[in-house]
Amino acid sequence: YDYDLLVVGSANADLVIGVERRPGAGETVLGSDLAVHPGGKGANQAVAAARLGARTALLARVGDDGHGRLLLESQRAAGVDTVGVLVGGAPTGVALITVDPSGDNSIVVSPGANGRLTPGDVRAATSLFHASRVVSTQLEIPLETVVEVVRNLAPGSRFVLNPSPPRPLPAEVLAACDPLIVNEHEAKVILGEACVSDRPEDWAGLLLAKGPRSVVVTLGAEGSLVASSPTDVTRVASVKVDAVDTTGAGDAFTAALAFRLGAGASLADAAAYASRVGAVAVTRQGAQDSFPTAREVEAL
Ligand code: RIB
Ligand code: NA
Repeated sequence: YDYDLLVVGSANADLVIGVERRPGAGETVLGSDLAVHPGGKGANQAVAAARLGARTALLARVGDDGHGRLLLESQRAAGVDTVGVLVGGAPTGVALITVDPSGDNSIVVSPGANGRLTPGDVRAATSLFHASRVVSTQLEIPLETVVEVVRNLAPGSRFVLNPSPPRPLPAEVLAACDPLIVNEHEAKVILGEACVSDRPEDWAGLLLAKGPRSVVVTLGAEGSLVASSPTDVTRVASVKVDAVDTTGAGDAFTAALAFRLGAGASLADAAAYASRVGAVAVTRQGAQDSFPTAREVEAL
């Protein structure tokens, strides 16, 4: 394989303002100076993997504008192969982000060019799929594009999905996931009426019944649950750190997990490593700018 990881997904300019508290409807609050960071769940995953040493390619679409150039520059600086980054068709995606004093964020995404990443763009990138050991994606691109990703997986390659932002998924997509990676909110949306329990331990089994070969349920400070069979759910501890900005930490977790799985790690070992990567990311501002190198993960 030429690539340890191919990420298919979104690239956004993150427009970030720190706030003491979020405004309610009809209310105005004053915040910090504006920061503009490279972001987007797909672009974040690609940078996170590359920083850890993964040979990484990104299939994405940005606009022919300053935000698009910011994103391309960030990918290249991290060492990501941008041969699959298409330019034009709509303005680059934008995420309007507020971050509160506890480091939690609220995000509104305008998909822009991400919404124009088509199934045809996926088919045109067949050579990238054949060159990649693991393929990962998220849901900030059209669902029909995600379906086409699953149909274009090369024999023997592994598919990892973080369904964020969440929506119900076709059986064809769920069946390809190894693993499906969800937080509590995403688990509830994917399960829908099948969410017949309040216990995350039960969700792992209920999610597996929907078809994925394995699942990871992330629980923030409580760590994560990993399972490839309903009778074998393993809890993986988290690393305690002081959060400054959690933006993109989930993307770093997914990328690190995908990379380690491709290198032959067990699901539990890969999740333990990924939680250390996410832990470093939340201690720093921004998404991509906060992702650690392999050496920084070891030093934690
Ligand atoms: O997961 C974090 C990302 O979500 C941000 O970088 C923002 O662009 C949104 O896509
Ligand atoms: Na961060």
